[in-house]
Amino acid sequence: MKYNYASRMAGLNGTATREIFKLLGDPEIISFAGGNPAIQCLPTARVKEICDEITSRPDFARVLQYGLTAGFPELRKQLCEYVKTADIYDASVENVLVISGGQQGIDLVLKTFINPGDVVLVENPTYLAVLQLISSYEGVAKGVDESGEGLDLNDLEKKIIKYKPKLLYCVPTFSNPTGRTYSAENRKKIAEITAKYGVVVIEDDPYSKLRFKGEPVPSMKSMDKAGNVIFISSFSKILSPGNRTGVAVAAPEIIRKMEICKQGTDLHTPNLSQMITYEYLKRGYLEEDLKKAVVLYGRKKKIMSDAISKYMPSEFNCTDPDGGLFIWGYFPEKIDTVNIFPEAIARKVAYINGSVFFADGSGRNYMRLNYSYASDEQIEEGIHRLGDLFKEKIAGLR
Ligand SMILES: Cc1ncc(COP(=O)(O)O)c(C=O)c1O
Repeated sequence: MKYNYASRMAGLNGTATREIFKLLGDPEIISFAGGNPAIQCLPTARVKEICDEITSRPDFARVLQYGLTAGFPELRKQLCEYVKTADIYDASVENVLVISGGQQGIDLVLKTFINPGDVVLVENPTYLAVLQLISSYEGVAKGVDESGEGLDLNDLEKKIIKYKPKLLYCVPTFSNPTGRTYSAENRKKIAEITAKYGVVVIEDDPYSKLRFKGEPVPSMKSMDKAGNVIFISSFSKILSPGNRTGVAVAAPEIIRKMEICKQGTDLHTPNLSQMITYEYLKRGYLEEDLKKAVVLYGRKKKIMSDAISKYMPSEFNCTDPDGGLFIWGYFPEKIDTVNIFPEAIARKVAYINGSVFFADGSGRNYMRLNYSYASDEQIEEGIHRLGDLFKEKIAGLR
């Protein structure tokens, strides 16, 4: 049978993401490829306690019934409180939509705004799944240059004038893949420039709570005077990715449109997941567990940074993040991390080649390394293996 797919499928292959999950399934491979939280950070005992309590309530059947698309009302109220930790003090329930993870939030915004051919500005490099999502709505991603402070504001304004984008997608705190955090001033200016030209901003924020060094920076949404910023936060990296919960905060009019789109996507986020997130927040478990998680991730980052200094060739330049889950680095231009990847797999170690994060497919000498998932010993051993491999490749250039 020859299937007659929609034309939007032509630009989609999904390979990079599929490959990552496959690799995580092979126990012999040390994977620095995914963005999974550490297994010991998943709060199994707390979730069991919550579920035991929920399932013994007299109204438990309510959880098994259909729910409201915008989310469980108690959770929406709780989320108005929660987003105060991102300096958003004026959210009420009409500003809040419960989403099935940050990925769904981004998808709903694109579904709400993007017609075929519309431009979405993105960081260059950016979260790879967003590039796929933009393609799936037949939009066009254009990269904005970075500056030491965040986005290059001149390039942002130039590209807004040139491409007339509907949206700007960015991860201002501990960006994926770079780990970069925009300064408060840069965020303020981005909010102002985009408001001036009527561009809606997706502020994607899955990582800001995972800060192990330095001072928090206020969210861009907290500086949004025109109502053009949509804040998307997720509980995947700080509670559980499998529980699939997150929150979008935006002007009520936008939330209503996203809610209509969500009806067509999944009707609502599963009630049990919502209840787990609600109780986890209400009981103060998130705060307690985060304290331990940031210590763990700070330690793991250090183990990886030390191993990089010890084993990687001196030609490898990389970041020293203050939080988040990734180290981002690059080799001299002739080193092609895409072509070398199968050799790394043959040595039972995985990374993500940098090119998948660039809107224009460049960046073949870059790589992203995740330090949260592998054990301490695996981090040391995996970086040792990568170091040996890339030292050989660099020697081959001489
Ligand atoms: C920047 C960014 N946004 C969104 C997501 C999606 O996460 P989730 O849908 O699990 O919240 C991820 C996951 O790695 C991410 O790195």
